[in-house]
Amino acid sequence: MLDVGRVRQDFPILRRGIIYLDNAASSLTPEPVLEKMLEFYREYRANIARGVHCLSQRASEEYESSRRKVAKFINASAPFEVVMTRNATEGINIIANGLNWRRGEKIVTSLIEHHSNFIVWLRVRDRYGVDVDVVKPSKPLEDGLFEVSDFEKAIDDRTKLVAVTHISNVLGLLMPVKEIADIAHEHGAFFLVDGAQSVPHIRVDVQRLNCDFLAFSGHKMCAPTGSGALYIREELLDEVKPLCIGGGTIADVGLDFYELSENVSRFEAGTPAIADVIGFGAAVDYLERIGMENIERHEAKLTERMYEGLREIPKVEVYGPEPKYRVGITSFNVEGLNHHDVALALDALSRIIVRSGHHCALPLMKELIRRPGTVRASTYLYNTLEEAERLISAVEEITQKMA
Ligand SMILES: Cc1ncc(COP(=O)(O)O)c(C=O)c1O
Repeated sequence: MLDVGRVRQDFPILRRGIIYLDNAASSLTPEPVLEKMLEFYREYRANIARGVHCLSQRASEEYESSRRKVAKFINASAPFEVVMTRNATEGINIIANGLNWRRGEKIVTSLIEHHSNFIVWLRVRDRYGVDVDVVKPSKPLEDGLFEVSDFEKAIDDRTKLVAVTHISNVLGLLMPVKEIADIAHEHGAFFLVDGAQSVPHIRVDVQRLNCDFLAFSGHKMCAPTGSGALYIREELLDEVKPLCIGGGTIADVGLDFYELSENVSRFEAGTPAIADVIGFGAAVDYLERIGMENIERHEAKLTERMYEGLREIPKVEVYGPEPKYRVGITSFNVEGLNHHDVALALDALSRIIVRSGHHCALPLMKELIRRPGTVRASTYLYNTLEEAERLISAVEEITQKMA
Protein backbone atom coordinates (compact mmCIF):
# COMPACT_ATOMS: atom_id res chain seq x y z
CA MET A 1 0.00 0.00 0.00
CA LEU A 2 1.08 3.53 -0.64
CA ASP A 3 1.91 5.62 2.43
CA VAL A 4 0.95 9.06 1.10
CA GLY A 5 2.04 10.85 4.26
CA ARG A 6 5.52 9.37 3.91
CA VAL A 7 5.64 10.10 0.17
CA ARG A 8 4.67 13.73 0.71
CA GLN A 9 7.70 14.31 2.90
CA ASP A 10 9.87 13.73 -0.17
CA PHE A 11 8.32 16.71 -1.99
CA PRO A 12 9.40 19.91 -0.22
CA ILE A 13 7.29 22.09 -2.53
CA LEU A 14 4.16 20.62 -0.93
CA ARG A 15 5.12 22.29 2.36
CA ARG A 16 4.15 25.57 0.71
CA GLY A 17 0.52 24.74 1.35
CA ILE A 18 -0.46 24.13 -2.25
CA ILE A 19 -2.65 21.41 -3.67
CA TYR A 20 -0.89 20.38 -6.83
CA LEU A 21 -3.27 18.93 -9.39
CA ASP A 22 -1.43 19.77 -12.59
CA ASN A 23 0.47 16.52 -12.85
CA ALA A 24 -0.56 15.81 -16.43
CA ALA A 25 1.46 18.87 -17.46
CA SER A 26 4.47 18.06 -15.28
CA SER A 27 4.93 16.35 -11.95
CA LEU A 28 6.81 17.50 -8.88
CA THR A 29 10.33 16.28 -8.15
CA PRO A 30 11.17 14.34 -4.97
CA GLU A 31 14.28 14.89 -2.84
CA PRO A 32 16.11 11.68 -3.89
CA VAL A 33 15.96 12.86 -7.51
CA LEU A 34 17.19 16.34 -6.61
CA GLU A 35 19.97 14.80 -4.52
CA LYS A 36 21.07 12.58 -7.37
CA MET A 37 21.26 15.54 -9.74
CA LEU A 38 23.19 17.61 -7.23
CA GLU A 39 25.57 14.72 -6.70
CA PHE A 40 26.44 14.93 -10.41
CA TYR A 41 27.16 18.66 -10.17
CA ARG A 42 29.01 18.36 -6.88
CA GLU A 43 31.04 15.22 -7.38
CA TYR A 44 31.61 14.22 -10.99
CA ARG A 45 30.38 16.98 -13.29
CA ALA A 46 31.87 16.30 -16.72
CA ASN A 47 30.78 15.46 -20.22
CA ILE A 48 29.91 11.87 -21.07
CA ALA A 49 31.51 9.50 -23.55
CA ARG A 50 34.20 12.01 -24.37
CA GLY A 51 37.06 11.45 -21.98
CA VAL A 52 39.18 8.81 -20.36
CA HIS A 53 39.43 10.79 -17.15
CA CYS A 54 37.69 9.61 -14.02
CA LEU A 55 34.95 12.26 -13.98
CA SER A 56 33.84 11.52 -17.53
CA GLN A 57 33.96 7.79 -16.81
CA ARG A 58 31.72 8.18 -13.78
CA ALA A 59 29.30 10.55 -15.58
CA SER A 60 29.07 8.14 -18.53
CA GLU A 61 28.42 5.20 -16.24
CA GLU A 62 25.67 7.05 -14.33
CA TYR A 63 24.10 8.20 -17.63
CA GLU A 64 24.07 4.67 -19.05
CA SER A 65 22.79 3.33 -15.76
CA SER A 66 19.75 5.61 -16.17
CA ARG A 67 19.17 4.27 -19.65
CA ARG A 68 19.23 0.72 -18.24
CA LYS A 69 16.75 1.67 -15.52
CA VAL A 70 14.35 3.34 -17.95
CA ALA A 71 14.61 0.36 -20.32
CA LYS A 72 13.85 -2.09 -17.51
CA PHE A 73 10.97 0.09 -16.30
CA ILE A 74 9.12 -0.35 -19.61
CA ASN A 75 10.43 -3.91 -20.08
CA ALA A 76 12.43 -3.15 -23.21
CA SER A 77 14.50 -6.16 -24.20
CA ALA A 78 17.76 -4.16 -24.12
CA PRO A 79 18.95 -0.69 -23.02
CA PHE A 80 19.97 0.17 -26.60
CA GLU A 81 16.27 0.24 -27.51
CA VAL A 82 15.90 3.41 -25.42
CA VAL A 83 16.89 6.87 -26.70
CA MET A 84 17.17 9.54 -24.01
CA THR A 85 15.26 12.62 -25.21
CA ARG A 86 14.21 15.96 -23.77
CA ASN A 87 10.52 15.11 -23.75
CA ALA A 88 7.82 13.01 -25.41
CA THR A 89 7.50 15.49 -28.27
CA GLU A 90 11.12 15.01 -29.29
CA GLY A 91 10.66 11.25 -29.36
CA ILE A 92 7.64 11.49 -31.67
CA ASN A 93 9.50 13.93 -33.92
CA ILE A 94 12.43 11.51 -34.18
CA ILE A 95 10.07 8.92 -35.65
CA ALA A 96 8.21 11.38 -37.88
CA ASN A 97 11.43 12.73 -39.35
CA GLY A 98 13.37 9.49 -39.28
CA LEU A 99 11.17 7.05 -41.20
CA ASN A 100 11.51 6.78 -44.95
CA TRP A 101 8.12 8.03 -46.18
CA ARG A 102 6.84 7.36 -49.67
CA ARG A 103 4.00 9.14 -51.47
CA GLY A 104 0.73 7.25 -51.13
CA GLU A 105 1.54 5.67 -47.77
CA LYS A 106 -0.83 6.30 -44.89
CA ILE A 107 -0.62 7.34 -41.24
CA VAL A 108 -3.53 6.54 -38.93
CA THR A 109 -4.00 8.61 -35.79
CA SER A 110 -6.98 9.70 -33.71
CA LEU A 111 -9.06 12.74 -32.97
CA ILE A 112 -8.09 12.89 -29.30
CA GLU A 113 -4.33 13.24 -29.72
CA HIS A 114 -2.10 15.84 -28.10
CA HIS A 115 -0.72 18.20 -30.78
CA SER A 116 2.67 16.54 -30.30
CA ASN A 117 1.21 13.34 -31.73
CA PHE A 118 -0.87 15.12 -34.36
CA ILE A 119 0.66 18.07 -36.14
CA VAL A 120 3.88 16.15 -36.72
CA TRP A 121 1.87 13.74 -38.92
CA LEU A 122 0.22 16.60 -40.79
CA ARG A 123 3.69 17.91 -41.58
CA VAL A 124 4.77 14.48 -42.86
CA ARG A 125 1.65 14.56 -45.07
CA ASP A 126 2.54 17.99 -46.44
CA ARG A 127 6.20 17.11 -47.05
CA TYR A 128 5.96 13.62 -48.49
CA GLY A 129 2.46 13.24 -49.94
CA VAL A 130 1.48 10.69 -47.29
CA ASP A 131 -2.23 10.47 -46.33
CA VAL A 132 -3.29 11.03 -42.73
CA ASP A 133 -6.46 9.32 -41.56
CA VAL A 134 -7.82 10.73 -38.29
CA VAL A 135 -10.00 8.13 -36.57
CA LYS A 136 -13.14 9.60 -35.05
CA PRO A 137 -14.82 7.73 -32.21
CA SER A 138 -18.11 5.94 -32.75
CA LYS A 139 -19.17 6.02 -29.09
CA PRO A 140 -20.12 9.17 -27.16
CA LEU A 141 -17.69 10.81 -24.72
CA GLU A 142 -19.27 9.29 -21.64
CA ASP A 143 -19.04 5.73 -23.02
CA GLY A 144 -15.30 5.62 -23.56
CA LEU A 145 -15.31 6.83 -27.16
CA PHE A 146 -13.43 4.30 -29.25
CA GLU A 147 -14.36 0.85 -30.49
CA VAL A 148 -11.57 -1.27 -31.87
CA SER A 149 -13.62 -1.43 -35.09
CA ASP A 150 -13.11 2.35 -35.52
CA PHE A 151 -9.45 1.58 -36.10
CA GLU A 152 -10.13 -1.58 -38.09
CA LYS A 153 -11.91 0.51 -40.69
CA ALA A 154 -9.04 2.99 -41.02
CA ILE A 155 -5.98 0.71 -41.00
CA ASP A 156 -5.24 -0.97 -44.33
CA ASP A 157 -2.29 -2.29 -46.32
CA ARG A 158 -1.26 1.23 -47.31
CA THR A 159 -0.78 2.15 -43.64
CA LYS A 160 2.85 2.60 -42.68
CA LEU A 161 2.28 3.90 -39.17
CA VAL A 162 -0.47 3.94 -36.58
CA ALA A 163 0.20 6.59 -33.90
CA VAL A 164 -2.14 6.87 -30.92
CA THR A 165 -2.08 8.01 -27.35
CA HIS A 166 -2.26 5.41 -24.59
CA ILE A 167 -4.20 7.73 -22.26
CA SER A 168 -5.89 10.97 -23.31
CA ASN A 169 -4.37 14.01 -21.63
CA VAL A 170 -7.79 15.71 -21.53
CA LEU A 171 -10.16 12.89 -20.65
CA GLY A 172 -7.85 10.43 -18.92
CA LEU A 173 -9.42 7.66 -20.95
CA LEU A 174 -7.52 4.53 -21.86
CA MET A 175 -7.27 3.61 -25.52
CA PRO A 176 -7.49 -0.06 -26.60
CA VAL A 177 -3.83 0.04 -27.59
CA LYS A 178 -3.15 -3.69 -27.46
CA GLU A 179 -5.94 -4.40 -29.92
CA ILE A 180 -4.89 -1.52 -32.17
CA ALA A 181 -1.33 -2.92 -32.18
CA ASP A 182 -2.63 -6.25 -33.49
CA ILE A 183 -4.54 -4.61 -36.31
CA ALA A 184 -1.57 -2.41 -37.25
CA HIS A 185 0.77 -5.39 -37.39
CA GLU A 186 -1.68 -7.53 -39.39
CA HIS A 187 -1.37 -4.87 -42.06
CA GLY A 188 2.41 -4.59 -41.77
CA ALA A 189 2.22 -1.11 -40.21
CA PHE A 190 4.43 0.22 -37.42
CA PHE A 191 2.71 1.08 -34.14
CA LEU A 192 3.68 4.16 -32.13
CA VAL A 193 2.24 4.76 -28.68
CA ASP A 194 2.29 8.19 -27.07
CA GLY A 195 2.86 7.13 -23.48
CA ALA A 196 3.20 10.61 -21.99
CA GLN A 197 0.15 10.08 -19.76
CA SER A 198 0.43 6.34 -19.20
CA VAL A 199 4.04 5.50 -18.33
CA PRO A 200 4.01 7.75 -15.21
CA HIS A 201 0.76 6.25 -13.87
CA ILE A 202 0.35 2.59 -14.84
CA ARG A 203 2.74 -0.27 -15.50
CA VAL A 204 3.59 -0.08 -19.21
CA ASP A 205 5.32 -3.08 -20.74
CA VAL A 206 6.38 -2.52 -24.34
CA GLN A 207 6.48 -6.24 -25.03
CA ARG A 208 2.95 -6.86 -23.79
CA LEU A 209 1.77 -3.72 -25.54
CA ASN A 210 3.43 -4.99 -28.70
CA CYS A 211 4.35 -1.48 -29.80
CA ASP A 212 7.23 -0.56 -32.10
CA PHE A 213 7.78 2.91 -30.69
CA LEU A 214 6.86 4.42 -27.32
CA ALA A 215 7.49 8.07 -26.54
CA PHE A 216 7.14 9.43 -23.01
CA SER A 217 8.23 12.25 -20.72
CA GLY A 218 10.47 11.88 -17.67
CA HIS A 219 9.28 15.20 -16.31
CA LYS A 220 5.75 13.84 -15.82
CA MET A 221 7.07 10.98 -13.68
CA CYS A 222 9.08 12.69 -10.93
CA ALA A 223 12.14 13.27 -13.11
CA PRO A 224 13.46 16.76 -13.95
CA THR A 225 12.15 18.91 -16.76
CA GLY A 226 14.15 18.29 -19.92
CA SER A 227 13.97 14.51 -19.62
CA GLY A 228 12.09 12.00 -21.71
CA ALA A 229 12.63 8.77 -23.60
CA LEU A 230 11.83 7.04 -26.86
CA TYR A 231 11.65 3.27 -27.15
CA ILE A 232 12.47 1.86 -30.59
CA ARG A 233 12.08 -1.89 -31.05
CA GLU A 234 15.47 -3.41 -31.80
CA GLU A 235 14.64 -4.61 -35.34
CA LEU A 236 13.56 -1.11 -36.29
CA LEU A 237 16.58 0.83 -35.07
CA ASP A 238 17.98 0.95 -38.60
CA GLU A 239 14.65 2.07 -40.08
CA VAL A 240 14.87 5.37 -38.19
CA LYS A 241 17.33 8.05 -39.24
CA PRO A 242 18.54 10.30 -36.42
CA LEU A 243 16.94 13.73 -36.22
CA CYS A 244 20.23 15.50 -35.44
CA ILE A 245 23.76 14.32 -36.10
CA GLY A 246 27.16 15.62 -35.04
CA GLY A 247 29.36 15.05 -32.01
CA GLY A 248 28.70 11.80 -30.21
CA THR A 249 26.88 10.13 -33.13
CA ILE A 250 29.63 8.79 -35.35
CA ALA A 251 31.72 5.67 -35.96
CA ASP A 252 34.10 7.37 -38.40
CA VAL A 253 34.52 10.64 -40.30
CA GLY A 254 36.79 11.54 -43.20
CA LEU A 255 37.08 14.60 -45.42
CA ASP A 256 34.21 13.47 -47.61
CA PHE A 257 32.31 10.90 -45.63
CA TYR A 258 30.83 10.08 -42.28
CA GLU A 259 29.59 6.85 -40.81
CA LEU A 260 27.09 6.92 -37.99
CA SER A 261 27.66 4.88 -34.88
CA GLU A 262 25.80 1.58 -34.56
CA ASN A 263 25.16 2.51 -30.97
CA VAL A 264 21.94 4.15 -29.75
CA SER A 265 24.07 7.25 -29.11
CA ARG A 266 23.64 8.08 -32.81
CA PHE A 267 20.21 9.45 -31.83
CA GLU A 268 21.68 11.68 -29.09
CA ALA A 269 23.75 14.31 -30.88
CA GLY A 270 25.81 16.78 -28.90
CA THR A 271 26.13 17.05 -25.14
CA PRO A 272 22.92 15.69 -23.63
CA ALA A 273 21.07 16.93 -20.56
CA ILE A 274 23.32 14.76 -18.38
CA ALA A 275 22.03 15.74 -14.94
CA ASP A 276 18.43 15.41 -16.13
CA VAL A 277 19.00 11.95 -17.52
CA ILE A 278 20.71 10.90 -14.28
CA GLY A 279 17.76 12.38 -12.39
CA PHE A 280 15.42 10.38 -14.63
CA GLY A 281 17.12 7.18 -13.50
CA ALA A 282 16.68 8.22 -9.87
CA ALA A 283 12.99 8.93 -10.55
CA VAL A 284 12.54 5.43 -11.93
CA ASP A 285 14.18 4.02 -8.78
CA TYR A 286 11.84 6.14 -6.69
CA LEU A 287 8.69 4.98 -8.49
CA GLU A 288 9.83 1.35 -8.41
CA ARG A 289 10.42 1.57 -4.66
CA ILE A 290 6.85 2.74 -4.17
CA GLY A 291 5.47 0.33 -6.76
CA MET A 292 3.56 1.22 -9.91
CA GLU A 293 0.68 -1.04 -8.89
CA ASN A 294 0.34 0.91 -5.61
CA ILE A 295 0.39 4.21 -7.49
CA GLU A 296 -2.23 3.00 -9.93
CA ARG A 297 -4.56 1.80 -7.15
CA HIS A 298 -4.11 5.03 -5.21
CA GLU A 299 -4.85 7.24 -8.21
CA ALA A 300 -7.88 5.15 -9.17
CA LYS A 301 -9.45 6.06 -5.80
CA LEU A 302 -8.69 9.76 -6.25
CA THR A 303 -10.01 9.82 -9.81
CA GLU A 304 -13.22 8.10 -8.82
CA ARG A 305 -13.84 10.51 -5.96
CA MET A 306 -13.14 13.57 -8.12
CA TYR A 307 -15.35 12.33 -10.92
CA GLU A 308 -18.25 11.48 -8.61
CA GLY A 309 -17.90 14.60 -6.47
CA LEU A 310 -17.64 17.07 -9.35
CA ARG A 311 -20.49 15.45 -11.27
CA GLU A 312 -22.85 16.00 -8.36
CA ILE A 313 -22.34 19.76 -8.39
CA PRO A 314 -25.06 21.59 -10.31
CA LYS A 315 -23.68 23.63 -13.24
CA VAL A 316 -20.55 21.46 -13.49
CA GLU A 317 -20.05 19.35 -16.58
CA VAL A 318 -17.44 16.59 -16.29
CA TYR A 319 -16.14 15.25 -19.60
CA GLY A 320 -15.32 11.71 -20.46
CA PRO A 321 -16.24 8.23 -19.34
CA GLU A 322 -16.81 6.82 -15.88
CA PRO A 323 -13.70 6.18 -13.77
CA LYS A 324 -13.22 2.53 -14.74
CA TYR A 325 -12.22 3.67 -18.26
CA ARG A 326 -9.85 6.38 -17.11
CA VAL A 327 -6.68 7.16 -15.21
CA GLY A 328 -5.73 10.20 -13.17
CA ILE A 329 -7.34 13.02 -15.16
CA THR A 330 -10.64 14.83 -14.69
CA SER A 331 -11.68 17.60 -17.07
CA PHE A 332 -14.66 19.80 -16.43
CA ASN A 333 -16.30 23.17 -17.00
CA VAL A 334 -18.57 25.34 -14.90
CA GLU A 335 -21.61 26.61 -16.76
CA GLY A 336 -21.37 30.34 -17.40
CA LEU A 337 -17.70 30.61 -16.43
CA ASN A 338 -14.56 30.69 -18.50
CA HIS A 339 -12.19 27.78 -17.74
CA HIS A 340 -9.30 30.17 -16.98
CA ASP A 341 -11.44 32.10 -14.49
CA VAL A 342 -12.26 28.88 -12.67
CA ALA A 343 -8.56 27.91 -12.54
CA LEU A 344 -7.58 31.38 -11.31
CA ALA A 345 -10.27 31.27 -8.64
CA LEU A 346 -9.14 27.83 -7.45
CA ASP A 347 -5.60 29.14 -7.13
CA ALA A 348 -6.54 32.44 -5.50
CA LEU A 349 -9.18 31.12 -3.09
CA SER A 350 -7.86 27.68 -2.22
CA ARG A 351 -4.28 27.39 -3.53
CA ILE A 352 -5.41 24.57 -5.76
CA ILE A 353 -3.29 24.33 -8.87
CA VAL A 354 -5.01 23.01 -11.97
CA ARG A 355 -4.51 23.48 -15.69
CA SER A 356 -7.01 25.33 -17.85
CA GLY A 357 -7.07 25.69 -21.62
CA HIS A 358 -7.23 23.43 -24.66
CA HIS A 359 -4.44 21.19 -23.31
CA CYS A 360 -2.78 21.04 -26.74
CA ALA A 361 -5.71 19.00 -28.02
CA LEU A 362 -7.63 21.44 -30.21
CA PRO A 363 -9.19 18.83 -32.54
CA LEU A 364 -10.74 17.14 -29.50
CA MET A 365 -11.92 20.48 -28.09
CA LYS A 366 -13.46 21.56 -31.39
CA GLU A 367 -15.05 18.29 -32.47
CA LEU A 368 -16.16 16.62 -29.25
CA ILE A 369 -16.10 18.91 -26.24
CA ARG A 370 -17.19 21.91 -28.31
CA ARG A 371 -15.79 24.40 -25.84
CA PRO A 372 -12.57 26.40 -26.21
CA GLY A 373 -11.09 24.66 -23.18
CA THR A 374 -11.64 22.84 -19.91
CA VAL A 375 -10.38 22.91 -16.36
CA ARG A 376 -8.22 19.85 -15.79
CA ALA A 377 -7.37 18.32 -12.44
CA SER A 378 -4.76 15.59 -12.67
CA THR A 379 -3.41 13.50 -9.82
CA TYR A 380 -0.24 11.71 -8.83
CA LEU A 381 1.13 9.59 -6.02
CA TYR A 382 1.39 12.45 -3.51
CA ASN A 383 -2.22 13.63 -3.79
CA THR A 384 -4.66 12.72 -1.05
CA LEU A 385 -8.36 12.01 -0.81
CA GLU A 386 -8.60 15.09 1.39
CA GLU A 387 -7.20 17.16 -1.49
CA ALA A 388 -9.81 15.66 -3.81
CA GLU A 389 -12.49 16.72 -1.31
CA ARG A 390 -10.98 20.22 -1.11
CA LEU A 391 -11.16 20.52 -4.89
CA ILE A 392 -14.78 19.42 -4.93
CA SER A 393 -15.81 21.88 -2.23
CA ALA A 394 -13.81 24.71 -3.81
CA VAL A 395 -15.51 24.15 -7.17
CA GLU A 396 -18.85 24.03 -5.43
CA GLU A 397 -18.11 27.34 -3.73
CA ILE A 398 -17.08 28.90 -7.03
CA THR A 399 -20.31 27.79 -8.72
CA GLN A 400 -22.30 29.34 -5.87
CA LYS A 401 -20.41 32.63 -5.77
CA MET A 402 -19.46 33.23 -9.38
CA ALA A 403 -21.61 31.27 -11.81
C1 LIG B 1 -0.60 12.79 -24.37
C2 LIG B 1 0.58 13.70 -24.45
N1 LIG B 1 1.43 13.57 -25.46
C3 LIG B 1 2.52 14.34 -25.57
C4 LIG B 1 2.78 15.32 -24.67
C5 LIG B 1 4.00 16.16 -24.82
O1 LIG B 1 4.87 15.88 -23.78
P1 LIG B 1 6.22 16.71 -23.61
O2 LIG B 1 5.83 18.06 -23.14
O3 LIG B 1 7.00 15.94 -22.62
O4 LIG B 1 6.87 16.76 -24.94
C6 LIG B 1 1.92 15.53 -23.60
C7 LIG B 1 2.15 16.61 -22.63
O5 LIG B 1 1.30 17.04 -21.93
C8 LIG B 1 0.80 14.69 -23.49
O6 LIG B 1 -0.06 14.83 -22.49
